[in-house]
Amino acid sequence: MPAGLNVVILAAGQGKRMRSRLPKVLHPLAGRPLIEHVVATARALKPARICVVYGHGGEQVPQALRGDGLIFVKQQPQLGTGHALAQALPHLGSAGLTLVLYGDVPLIGDETLAAMIAGGGDRLTLLTAELDDPSGYGRIVRNRRGSITAIVEEKDASVAQRAIREVNTGIMVLPGARLGEWMSKLSNRNAQREYYLTDVVPLASADRVAVVAVKARTPWEALGVNSKQQLAQLERIYQWQRATRLMDAGVTLADPMRLDVRGNLACGADVRIDVNCVFEGEVRLADRVEVGANCVLRDTEVGPGTRIEPFTLVDAAKIGANCRVGPYARIRPGTRLAEDVHIGNFVEVKAAEIGARSKANHLAYIGDASVGRDVNIGAGTITCNYDGAAKHRTVIDDDVQIGSDVQLVAPVSIGAGATIGAGATITEDVPPGVLAVTEKKQVVKPGWKRPQKK
Ligand code: UD1
Ligand code: CA
Repeated sequence: MPAGLNVVILAAGQGKRMRSRLPKVLHPLAGRPLIEHVVATARALKPARICVVYGHGGEQVPQALRGDGLIFVKQQPQLGTGHALAQALPHLGSAGLTLVLYGDVPLIGDETLAAMIAGGGDRLTLLTAELDDPSGYGRIVRNRRGSITAIVEEKDASVAQRAIREVNTGIMVLPGARLGEWMSKLSNRNAQREYYLTDVVPLASADRVAVVAVKARTPWEALGVNSKQQLAQLERIYQWQRATRLMDAGVTLADPMRLDVRGNLACGADVRIDVNCVFEGEVRLADRVEVGANCVLRDTEVGPGTRIEPFTLVDAAKIGANCRVGPYARIRPGTRLAEDVHIGNFVEVKAAEIGARSKANHLAYIGDASVGRDVNIGAGTITCNYDGAAKHRTVIDDDVQIGSDVQLVAPVSIGAGATIGAGATITEDVPPGVLAVTEKKQVVKPGWKRPQKK
């Protein structure tokens, strides 16, 4: 990329039609604010600097993006796109090129932008699109020789101009050397009393600077978000792209329309994903992993051959090879499952390591625990890890059998090979190899009558 590339992201507008207090560019697409997608694409071009022009919503935009090399420029009040770019001028210098992006046009691709920049030099490059319904956009006006002479905003357009289907996406590349002069010449004599950036077109023509139109590589790249409906449409396009890439890499998706990736999903060979799964943050699925319907996996690694059964939530966990997790399991942060572990329905695991071949198949809570190998944890067993003030650990050694409905009152440890009888409340350490029970005597009352309904 040219050494002197500046990127300016316009993001000061309110976005009235979102009907929200949140600035428009902070609404999430695939789990990240719209503007973060634009910043990421801008970074891929390796520009000399990136300026973000913000305004509406106070400091929320700079706070959400927090730094790393971005230059924030406040535009207050917001007097139009030309006025917005002019605010960034002091940071741009007069060398190289300035690329203008919109904070609410999130799917713009770096290849399209690279093609716009490649023209370089002393020209004005516009990203345009041919739309069936051009309403709301600025129209590209060309003369008889086909040269672009103006961009006319809909509110300023004649009936004939409104019929033009070639529109301005707003994204453009301007020559740095002309920028200061052109900005100083913009006026607000138009229907909206705004300083229109689009008025650089006649200024370029007057300076005999070529005005060039580039079309986006894909039709959706130039789509902007103005309403919740458009946000939802772009979300589906984005997710379709992710699904397509996964399928191209060999992943089997039961339905590519019913997948949501909000972050990065890396898959090995022969991974199968059923419908309505959500992947957040960094998720890695090894070879032959199967994810059942309606699962949510966040910041998680899953080992080869493991099956995540339907309706399972996994958050910040590491799951080994050939495990079975779910259905209806909740795996919380800090969980480490070794290989061949079975975690069944309505089992919650938190900050626990569980050794190879161990099982907790039904209705249990395993929190702040170390569980060895070949352990079986019965239904209804609970680690009582919290005394009201602090959390305590439970240690269960290899080959332990824990009956149903056991309370393990931490801190407590169970020695290898021990057996805990059903219904026990374990408050002291259990030595290896023994049977521990807490005896409650069964009482039989002959002749007792069950109350009858009247
Ligand atoms: C603009 C273009 C129009 C184009 C359309 C594409 C102008 C005059 N018109 O119109 O030709 O078809 O985008 O969507 O440029 N912004 C600021 N400060 C301001 C005003 C806007 O930062 O004072 C930002 C907004 O946050 C937004 C972008 O600029 O990211 C576009 O603003 P918007 O008001 O949506 O422009 P349009 O009227 O749609
Ligand atoms: Ca707009």
